Amino acid sequence: MTALIRNGTVVTARDARAADVLIENERIAEVRPGIQAPANAAIIDASGMYVMPGGIDVHTHLDMPLGDIRSSDDFETGTRAAAFGGTTCIVDYATQARGARMRDAFDAWSRMAEGKASIDYGFHMIVTDLAGSGLADMDAMVREGVTSFKLFMAYPRSLMVDDGAIFRVMDRAARNGSLVCVHAENGPVIDVLAERALAEGKTAPVYHALTRPPLAEAEAVHRSIAIAEIAGAPVYIVHVSSGDALDEIRRAHARGAPVFAETCPQYLLLSVDDLARPGFEGAKYVLTPPLRANGRQVALWAGLRDGDLQVVATDHCPFRLDQKDLGRGDFTKIPNGGPGIENRLQLIWHHGVNRGRLTINQFVELVSTAPARLFGLHPKKGEIAAGSDADIVIWDPAAERVIGAATHHMRVDYSLFEGFQVKGAARTVLSRGEVIVDAGVFLGKPGRGRYQKRAPRR
Ligand code: URP
Ligand code: ZN
Ligand code: ZN
Repeated sequence: MTALIRNGTVVTARDARAADVLIENERIAEVRPGIQAPANAAIIDASGMYVMPGGIDVHTHLDMPLGDIRSSDDFETGTRAAAFGGTTCIVDYATQARGARMRDAFDAWSRMAEGKASIDYGFHMIVTDLAGSGLADMDAMVREGVTSFKLFMAYPRSLMVDDGAIFRVMDRAARNGSLVCVHAENGPVIDVLAERALAEGKTAPVYHALTRPPLAEAEAVHRSIAIAEIAGAPVYIVHVSSGDALDEIRRAHARGAPVFAETCPQYLLLSVDDLARPGFEGAKYVLTPPLRANGRQVALWAGLRDGDLQVVATDHCPFRLDQKDLGRGDFTKIPNGGPGIENRLQLIWHHGVNRGRLTINQFVELVSTAPARLFGLHPKKGEIAAGSDADIVIWDPAAERVIGAATHHMRVDYSLFEGFQVKGAARTVLSRGEVIVDAGVFLGKPGRGRYQKRAPRR
């Protein structure tokens, strides 16, 4: 299909200029003012709009198994909701089961996505077990385009790996060009605090936060960076939630260590006060690391502005309220995670750009270009330039919305951001040149999304 986006302001991580965008064969063919429309071109008028690279969400958990349940959005509902919000590519976390091969997880997640995803997608691999051929299996995954691995320093009973394994994975990553993502929280200490709280009859959702203090995150961030430096590997810290953790990252940057980090809208906009809502309502806000003290979000906004945090992702991991109910009477049994895949761009635009905390170029960098670059998708994705995939969001800065479960498209019966008013929303969303969302109508098809083989670092 040939299309011409006319009269908009093209915004990249570098600049903003009035220009037209010509799309041919799924890719951007030309970007400049005054392009003549080819005879067969569909014309898309973007007067008064920003034309930006589609959002890239590098932290999602669709259809994620957790004990006997699964996260409530699968690849069909989750990617459709993502598209409504202006996100055109995700990188989801596949999990290697203990005792199984990474290849099994890659195959299982591929089956979950195929035929369902309506936007392009890739996978990270969560490594839980290095027994046998684990390190060689990492190399095999890199050849499949899985060029990032996640390690958990929390959840000793299920996902955590020890420091020796962290070192071995980072050492291998330094050689095969992959990037190690770390969930940095001191799991064993947290488990003792949680057991103690339960023994004292402290069972409400708010104890999720009170037993996972910011220092448990900062300590693990420090340790993971130190291990990465010993291994000579870069490291990417996922879902940074606290100023204490960010301080460790800032110190690493001051000594020139290759440390990258993401935060998420919930840590920028919500607080432990939400977890402390009366009754069991706080269960909606049980996600990990936990929400922090109100007023402390300002440190994370400063981290985005100053470049110590490079990415805003969602950690979209929704559970319905009946699933959250599993933890009534025991906060440790509340499924960890919340929804957000649809709202990331709106929230960061409104609270970042509209409130003068971020420029529009920083916005594009944080939600699209930096994640594409760090995870081996750039310049195919995350860019408005000749040769890049025509993954484009046409953004209406004047559109006003109220976020809520009654109108969102995520398959979950609550919103973390219920009642939040935002100005700025995706009007038209293109994935490889095809209009998949226009004026609130979904035009994409399940299964049209393609697996993205991501490149290793050069
Ligand atoms: O609570 C969360 N974040 N659930 C998803 C798993 C993880 O730790 O990222
Ligand atoms: Zn995590
Ligand atoms: Zn996660």
